[in-house]
Amino acid sequence: MTDTHIVTIDRHIIDEERRKPEASGAFSNILTDMALAAKVISRQVNMAGLVDILGRAGHRNVQGEPVQKLDVFAQDVIYRAMDHTGHLCCMVSEEVEDFIPIPDKFPAGSYVLLFDPLDGSSNIDVNVSIGTIFSIQRKVSDQERGSLDDCLQPGRRQLAAGYVVYGSSTMLVYSTGAGVHGFTLDPSIGEFILSHEDIRIPRSPTRYYSVNEAYYSRWNRGTQRLLDHLKGTDGSADGGGFSARYIGSLVADFHRTLLRGGLFMYPSDPKQPEGKLRLLYEASPLAFLAEQAGGRASSGEENILDIQPEALHQRTPLFIGSGELVDLAEHYLAGPTDDG
Ligand code: AHG
Ligand code: MN
Ligand code: MN
Repeated sequence: MTDTHIVTIDRHIIDEERRKPEASGAFSNILTDMALAAKVISRQVNMAGLVDILGRAGHRNVQGEPVQKLDVFAQDVIYRAMDHTGHLCCMVSEEVEDFIPIPDKFPAGSYVLLFDPLDGSSNIDVNVSIGTIFSIQRKVSDQERGSLDDCLQPGRRQLAAGYVVYGSSTMLVYSTGAGVHGFTLDPSIGEFILSHEDIRIPRSPTRYYSVNEAYYSRWNRGTQRLLDHLKGTDGSADGGGFSARYIGSLVADFHRTLLRGGLFMYPSDPKQPEGKLRLLYEASPLAFLAEQAGGRASSGEENILDIQPEALHQRTPLFIGSGELVDLAEHYLAGPTDDG
């Protein structure tokens, strides 16, 4: 019998809390509640082909994007798992324009939850991995039920961040600042079991770069030169040697990057001058995880975690993964960006 002890995510969260004498337990409860929401969403995702939640919900979200029914379901599950617990003062969701105060009928707490309830919406109906991304900040204002100031905090201040990837298995990956740990859902017992302790992003040489190359012609010259280098078509001696992987679900592309190394990119282009991905509940939480795993994340100009947010749904270009490759991206983006 091998000595493999079984650690559930609830046990892991409690053990992490014990390492922080100042911890009140409220913070741990938010993580536990997120794990519960993940189980509920996972069950629905895995039945998506069987129940009437495929297809579009018929309206558009604040981003002007068509909302898929699973987006709405995931949003509702997370909100209802969190609204009554007394740990949060407010929430921010990709699917809701303004921040979401905790209703007066429920007690308010000292934390803010920011989340993308369902990431990879374009992949829902084609049975490709999708995910949920979350970030936890501490309240900084004196507003009992939250304020914009509580929501617009730099990623460097996050207390925790994580994601759920609903793929061939459902995994929850999180960090509270003491490394990155992955848990795989065992649906037969309904528990997330520790399967990837202290994940470290492999350093170069690594095999993958990940970007939607359909937009190549729109990118500025620096971005194009970066891709030419990664593809080995720029004539440099140290270019090339990569495979391309692009799933089109940020969570799935990031999860692979975290485990296998490489560079995920979503650059800006004239049609998306700030990029497509949102800072508060996509780039920032994943940047926190990347840094905790020994990698890093940049907008191409600055560390994602140092950006002072100005608006809830603001977007940012994103270059994330193995540190040396993010450095390389910044190097090329700092170079000549016009045709010169
Ligand atoms: P969301 O479904 O939350 O709107 O996110 C979709 C994002 C992200 O998951 C992915 O990396 C990106 O959209 C793919 O965009 P393109 O289709 O332009 O490549
Ligand atoms: Mn998303
Ligand atoms: Mn989404």
